[in-house]
Amino acid sequence: MAADSSQKWILMTTAQTPTNIAVIKYWGKRDEALILAVNDSISVTLDPQHLCTTTTVAVSPMFQSDRMWLNGKEISLSGGRYQNCLREIRSRASKIEDEKKGIKITKKDWEKLHVHIASYNNFPTAAGLASSAAGFACLVFSLAKLMNVQEDQGKLSAIARQGSGSACRSLYGGFVKWVMGNEENGSDSIAVQLQDEKHWDELVIIIAVVSSRQKETSSTSGMRDSVETSLLLQHRAKEVVPKRIIEMEEAIKNRDFPSFARLTCADSNQFHAVCLDTSPPIFYMNDTSHRIISCVEKWNRSEGTPQVAYTFDAGPNAVLIARDRKVAANLLQRLLYYFPPHSDTDLNSYVIGDKSILGDVG
Ligand code: DP6
Repeated sequence: MAADSSQKWILMTTAQTPTNIAVIKYWGKRDEALILAVNDSISVTLDPQHLCTTTTVAVSPMFQSDRMWLNGKEISLSGGRYQNCLREIRSRASKIEDEKKGIKITKKDWEKLHVHIASYNNFPTAAGLASSAAGFACLVFSLAKLMNVQEDQGKLSAIARQGSGSACRSLYGGFVKWVMGNEENGSDSIAVQLQDEKHWDELVIIIAVVSSRQKETSSTSGMRDSVETSLLLQHRAKEVVPKRIIEMEEAIKNRDFPSFARLTCADSNQFHAVCLDTSPPIFYMNDTSHRIISCVEKWNRSEGTPQVAYTFDAGPNAVLIARDRKVAANLLQRLLYYFPPHSDTDLNSYVIGDKSILGDVG
């Protein structure tokens, strides 16, 4: 029986998608509607059990409209980004026949059927921890599963990109590159996996949550202002990032930590320099962020070779990448010593992510 509103079935699916942290940053769009970047970027995807989004999507002839709840609160789906993802997925939906459950959905039915979406982040939303990356990647992935979409991950990444640029990189684990592409319609602006999850698994990522408050300037509006006003952004996109991408791919392939750390820190610092070069200037980092940078820089210099890389997204929280577990334990001790919980700094908790450990301290 094909889908009609007298039927009582609900079909649902749940997916979990981790967030990713860029080590060569995406900052600036050449096309706002399609979300096409001005430069390639490279990220590392975190383990799914740490910073991740869990999304359940359901479809039923009983649903009257498309609806979505984020962390238990209903949000509007009227924004272009949600609509673009829904439209792209719907247009690729294929038929489903489940005789046992008595469900038959034709390709045409998908145009009329409505979806309900419930999404949860296990970390603060919009606090510069790439919540939109995990969120849109998970939305697209779960809708594609629900609607029996037969596209490969690359094609799905191009759809997730239209929800949030950084989301395309969360469709893969390990080290991922978002290729900016050249096509006007964005068909070649996709994510590709550089190395899988098992490659270089001695790295440990510690996120020092300096503040879990929502950021004042969203990435979207911040990068729009930077594109319009920052000359440094133009120079970065054309001259700096293309070379860095090649060097970073090489560093990752060879597990060359000194080069990886040098490039990661330099790219984070240049991204924040672009923010300062924007009019009006954007301040994502705060005094605590700056103190963390100084501590890491001093430590790396005193050892003669980098032990830890730091990178900051559009917020004050530090993402620290230690070369191995021993260094990570040492790093944690140093953080607790220099930024004791409940001191005058507002550094209040750490999320530690690698293949096996997660903890909240402080
Ligand atoms: C600093 O992907 O959140 O985290 O495409 O407008 O949704 P939109 O922006 P978004 O920007 C991420 C910026 C960044 C760097 C990065 O993840 O590459």
